[in-house]
Amino acid sequence: MSQMSLALCSSKITKIFGDGSSHALPVLQGIDLRIEKGASWVVLGRSGVGKSVLLKILLGLLPMTSGDTLVDGLSVRDRAHRHSYLSYFGMLFQGGALFDSMTILGNIVFALTERGVSRAQAIEIAHEKLAAVGLGERRVSSLFPSELSGGMKKRAALARAIALDPKILLFDEPTTGLDSITSSKIAYLLRDTVQTLGATAITITHDLVTARVLADRICLLEDGRIAWQGTQAELETTDNPQMIDLLKAAQGERAS
Ligand SMILES: Nc1ncnc2c1ncn2[C@@H]1O[C@H](COP(=O)(O)OP(=O)(O)O)[C@@H](O)[C@H]1O
Ligand SMILES: [Mg+2]
Repeated sequence: MSQMSLALCSSKITKIFGDGSSHALPVLQGIDLRIEKGASWVVLGRSGVGKSVLLKILLGLLPMTSGDTLVDGLSVRDRAHRHSYLSYFGMLFQGGALFDSMTILGNIVFALTERGVSRAQAIEIAHEKLAAVGLGERRVSSLFPSELSGGMKKRAALARAIALDPKILLFDEPTTGLDSITSSKIAYLLRDTVQTLGATAITITHDLVTARVLADRICLLEDGRIAWQGTQAELETTDNPQMIDLLKAAQGERAS
């Protein structure tokens, strides 16, 4: 595969927290990702395994210990081109990360003006994106985050993440904390949004149901490494013991 058809290419990412002493915590121990443009990847893994750390490293919010990530030839390590690098990404944070003191509309307008968009244009884009995620009514866009349900918060955060039509969308546990019906609605909304934008998506989740809705390709993060990766069809027939454990655990959750 040529480098040009890749949206994002990570090589040998490691992350060790601590000072290299006996207290050092090796979280990532050599992660390679070659994500094609337009693909939707899901990184699965149990909680505490390093999924959020990986996303923060891809964005450059956390420094990696060694390795690199390239997007269109730009390295995440290149501080001089930080702004251009970040402009490729839209990020949906785990908790939504909306400002409580601003309305939904205000949150999106603020994010846009921070990135140099004029106020008038920001308002126009905010209305358009809120409509795209099903929050188009004026009554809703003038609500504050504390007045929204969990699903509506996710929608609002998604509207902000797509405000500048990013080429790569990152979703951190997008359905965690939602009831199963809302969770599935949000997963389908994310899938449709990614398709409409023609974006590349990287989702991290511990939830197999979400993974099945969103993924072209699934990988399993375990012990700091990608323990398994494959398509949905390959998931159904895998004999990888770690993946089988996760499939069994998910079945148990549904049965209970
Ligand atoms: N800033 C930090 N300093 C030290 N340890 C951290 C930091 N951020 C995360 N960790 C540790 O890294 C591990 C992975 O965390 P995280 O990526 O948040 O897990 P998850 O897979 O649930 O998203 C955890 O053991 C966590 O305690
Ligand atoms: Mg996490």
